[in-house]
Amino acid sequence: MEQIPSPQSGPSTLQITLQGKLCHVQEDNLIWIFQEMGLIRFSNKFCWNGECKNCTVTFKMGPEGKEITERACRTPAQEGMIITDMPGQFYKEL
Ligand code: FES
Repeated sequence: MEQIPSPQSGPSTLQITLQGKLCHVQEDNLIWIFQEMGLIRFSNKFCWNGECKNCTVTFKMGPEGKEITERACRTPAQEGMIITDMPGQFYKEL
C-alpha cells in the first residue's frame, strides 16, 4: 500500500488509511486533518461546528471493523482508522 507523507508527519503521529493510502497525521479532529492535507473542496460549505453535516465521512476501525458514518468535525483521528468514504462534492482526492 502506498504511503503518503503528510505535512504533519513527525514522531507523535497516528497512522490512518485515507482513500486507500496510508497517511501519518497528528492527533486532531478529522476535518482539521483534511484541511491541512488540502482535501477540503469548498471550505465555505462547512460550518466547522457540527451543524451542517456536510463534513460527514464513513470509516471503520481496522479491516474487520464495522463502518461508522460520522461528522468529521466531531471525530478525532484514531490509530488504525480506515476512512472508507469521503463525499466527492465536499472533498478532493489525494
Ligand atoms: S463542518 Fe458542519 S457538521 Fe462538520
